[in-house]
Order: sequence, then C-alpha cells, then structure tokens
Amino acid sequence: MSLAPEFKVVFQPSGRMVYVLADTTVFEAAARAGLMLQTPCGGRGSCGKCRVRVVAGDVAPSAACRQFFSAAELQQGMRLGCQVRLVSDAVIDVPAASLYESAAARILTDGQAHDLHVQAMVEKTWVQLAAPTMADPAADLMRLERVLGPLRIKLSLLRQLPAKLRANNYGGTAVVCNGDLLDFEPGDTTSSSFGVAFDLGTTTIVAVLLDLNSGAEIGVAATMNPQVNNGDDVISRICAARDSQANITAMQDAVIQACNALIRQLSRDHGVQPRHIYEVTIAGNTTMQHLFCGITPAALGEMPFAPAFSRALVLWACEAGIRLEVNEHARLYVFPNIGGFIGGDTVAGILATGLWDCKDTVLLVDIGTNGEIALLHQGKISTASAAAGPAFEGARIVNGMRATSGAIEKVVFNGNDLQMNVIGNALPIGMCGTALIDLVAELLRLEVIDCTGRIVTADEVPQLPEAIRQRLHEADAQVNVLLCSAADSGTGEALYLYQKDVRELQLASGAIRAGINIMLSRLNLTADDLDSVLLAGGFGNFIRRRNACRIGLLPALPLARIRFVGNAASAGAKAALVSRKLRAIAEQVATAAEHVDLSMDAEFQMEFAMAMMFPQQ
Ligand code: FES
Repeated sequence: MSLAPEFKVVFQPSGRMVYVLADTTVFEAAARAGLMLQTPCGGRGSCGKCRVRVVAGDVAPSAACRQFFSAAELQQGMRLGCQVRLVSDAVIDVPAASLYESAAARILTDGQAHDLHVQAMVEKTWVQLAAPTMADPAADLMRLERVLGPLRIKLSLLRQLPAKLRANNYGGTAVVCNGDLLDFEPGDTTSSSFGVAFDLGTTTIVAVLLDLNSGAEIGVAATMNPQVNNGDDVISRICAARDSQANITAMQDAVIQACNALIRQLSRDHGVQPRHIYEVTIAGNTTMQHLFCGITPAALGEMPFAPAFSRALVLWACEAGIRLEVNEHARLYVFPNIGGFIGGDTVAGILATGLWDCKDTVLLVDIGTNGEIALLHQGKISTASAAAGPAFEGARIVNGMRATSGAIEKVVFNGNDLQMNVIGNALPIGMCGTALIDLVAELLRLEVIDCTGRIVTADEVPQLPEAIRQRLHEADAQVNVLLCSAADSGTGEALYLYQKDVRELQLASGAIRAGINIMLSRLNLTADDLDSVLLAGGFGNFIRRRNACRIGLLPALPLARIRFVGNAASAGAKAALVSRKLRAIAEQVATAAEHVDLSMDAEFQMEFAMAMMFPQQ
C-alpha cells in the first residue's frame, strides 16, 4: 500500500476531525467530517456560499478566493471551501451560515434560498382563566376554548384537566397542535417547545431535535437501524415481515427502541425535558414507515406493490405499539408515500430541495441500496426507484465494508501509483462504496478495466506504471487488483478488488443509471437537458462526481451542474416539523407526483444491460 501523507483537519466549532490526503478540498474534508457546506454554484467558486476561515494550517487562497475576499479577509484566513486544498494539518472554522444542514430555516431551490416561515403545528399559549363562579359556572374545557377556540382533547388529558387548572389557579400554558389540546402546564413554559425529526433509513436513523419556536436545530444524533438483523435491504425486511407477525413486532420494537434511545440522548445532551417534546416527524421509505407503525409491508413484496397507506398519518406518539418517550400526549406525523418503493423520504427530499417550486429541469438522486430518482420537468415531478443492491454500502464486495473506521474511503492515482485514504487514520480493513467507485474510475482511466468491466492482464496495457503493474495479480484465470498487502492491512490479510466486485458495481450503477435514462426518455429528454442533478443521502454526498460520471452512474455533465444537497430526507423531516405550509406541500407533492414502475417498463432490461457497460472515453 502506498503510504501517502495524510493531514489532520479539525473543524470548529464542532470539533469534528478527519484525516485526508493531500490536495483534498476543504469542502470534501468537511463532508467527510459530516459537515455539508452550501454549494449552490456547484463548487465553481462563483457563489461565495461555502466560505470558511482557516484558523491554523497552510491553505493557500485560490484566484476565486481573491475575488471574493479583501486582502484583510484573506489575511484573517477567509477562503472558499470548494476552491482551496489542504496541504498540511489545519484547523478550519465553519460559520453556521455556510452549512447546508444547519440552515434549518432555509430551503434551496436551483441555487436560490427561500426563507422558510417558521410556524410549527404546535403552539404554546400562556393563559390566565377566570375561576368558575356562581355567575359563571362554565366547564373547565369551555373556559379554555373561550380563549383558544374549539379544541379536541384525549380522554386521558381531560381526566387530568380539572386538577391541572385548579392546582395553578387557572393559569398556565396550553399546548395545542392543530386543534388538539396536548397539555396544560403550570407557569409560563412557552419558551420550551421542541420536536424531533427522524430520517428513518434502511441502514441508519438520524434524529434532529428542533426548537419549535425558532426552527433552530438544537442537536443531531444517529444510530444504525437495528432492523439490519433482519437483512440489509428493504426486500429482506419485507420477506421477514411476510414470514410472521412476530417478525413485524420484533422489527417495530427494535426501531422504536432505537428512536427512543436517540430522543433520550438528545434530551440529555441538550438539557431538554422529554415532556417538552410535543411532536415527532418520520420520513422513511415506504417499508420503513410501515414497520415503524407496526403495519405489515407484505404487499410490497408482490405485484402490484400496493402499500397499506399513502397519505400522511397523523397519530399519537403513544399510540398502540409506538410509545415514543416524549410528552405523553405528543403528536406523530408520518410522511405520505408516493408508491410502494417511493416513500416519505423522497417526499421529504423533494420538500427540502424545493423541487415543488422550481421551473428548471432537475434530477434528484438519492443513491443507496434503493436508488430513488425524482425528475422535475415543466413543473411536474415523476419518481422511480431502482434496486441498486447493497454494493454501495460495501456489501457483496469481497473486501467491502461500510464507511466506518478502517474503511478505505478514497482512492486517487497520483501519476505513479494508487493513493488511499482510510477513515480514522487507521490501518485499512476494507473499502467502502466511495472508494470502490474511485478505484474503478481510476482503473478505467488507466485502461486496467475495459468497458465491459473486465480487469485486464498487465501484458495488455504495456504503458502501465510499474507500481500499478505490481498490483495486478492473476488467480483462477482472473485478474485481481491489490489494494494493500497483508503487512499493511488491519486484518493481517491482503485486500483486493476482485473481478466479481466490479460486476457488483456494474449491477448497482447500471440499475440507477438505467432508471435515470428511462425517466429522461419518457419525457423525450436527454441528460443535456438537465439544468442540475442533485445528489442526496448519506452515500450520495460522499461520492466524487467526476468518478461517478466516469463509471456511468451519473450522466457526463459539467460538474457544476451536479450538486450535493446533504441529507435531504432529514432536512425535509425538519421542514415539516417547523412549517405547516411545507407540511401541506408535502401532501400535495405526494399526491401529484407520478410514480413510474421501472420493472414494468419494456425498455428496462435493455437499458439496464447497456447501462452496466462502462462509458468509453
Ligand atoms: S463558491 Fe464554493 S460552492 Fe460556490
């Protein structure tokens, strides 16, 4: 393994730290640290939204930086994150305004930020009611309704209401969510109103604690979806659900426990009382949303893949089988689904990226085990899902692994040999999906892999640098590419890219690209008609666009037209929590969006076979 120098980069104020190869952009290093900078210009250096301040380290300003910043600002370390590269250890300050994710009160549409009017469904109002008298013996609930308007109330809260009112001399804070009285609290607690937005992924669950008064993000926590014990993709979970009701109950219990653990962690870390959390939003794919609610997704396993529900569900967080650890009368909003394999996470992504209010032709792609594709053209949104399989997650790759410590996450050819970056500055124990794409793209450029996906022998590429030649090992009539020797590996065994790994990547990439091609051709469009391609999701935000284009996963467009939009599902779940307007739009989007079933398209198999071939260049 080539031991390329790596630099330690610490981001302030979060304190997040990563190790990166020389020449990595600050934008890329920040993304690796989980900090997504805004890039409305696609990293061209023309918007100035990705600004950071270099506190320590040698980060030379680019020509674009000199246009944006005065000499004094440059002297203070101001730089454009997309334009500058790391050539030493560094400490970088990231202003909140430069972060995509922390822009909780803003959503992005084709490069323009729309201010989001924060108006949560939950409203807290301090009231002082008059006590009943002989002259006015009106009922307790009526006294509240005189001030707040008509209210629905759960019987359990109505039982508590007389005592709550009398204990505080008829003064206190009423908590109302869309006409439902959720609580009546002693004193003025109007400043303590919180909600939690969940991005419920097949692999990971992300929870964001939000202040419902300001829309501000208080904290983020994430965990693995424990349902991975029932398989790493939605099909496995559907099969498990079809096997028995006990499996459904177990998967629901597991995910509810995981969500409760995240709520506890966020409450504890940020000093928020769970009883002051009044609403939870859930955005996940259709199967995840069904299982969260304890609803069987069995019908999603057979044609015509009809879900049990598509419109949004507005439930009680304590409803049978759910029992989230929040206020006992808290509300739960489950996003609407578009179809069996286009779920609330896609609706949330459309919401967050502002596709519903955009005039351009835009492709939104969430690359994962299930690749979700939304195409906006002339104001209409069509959606599809492509079963890519788990190769991008590192599964079914011999030395594949998830993007955790010890994973090779980046591979570059430096003119002589391959350089690799390992997460956590550890010895490598495998490679994750981004490295797989990088590696195959570099080997295509070196002509070590041909357009059919075959790894050729060293003799077939006479001009190959010696270091690369040394990496090509023949075994069982196939050629494998050595990533690192047994001595350099954390497992004590050599790590290779095998021929079958390339085939797995072709299947995954081909499924998504075939989906994109069919979606475009249905509307008589070509890739050149796309004003922008938005990459969403935990994986999509880490891939190198140039390499994704090289392997054919994405159309070969100018890179400035391909933009990262962070965790759009999470951003959408947050938006629905703090904006009743956007929540209404989510429901309109789910109803209006067209669901294209790729498996029913006569062209799909042909398109898929062609898309599995790597582009010739
Ligand atoms: S200037 Fe860096 S993303 Fe626009």
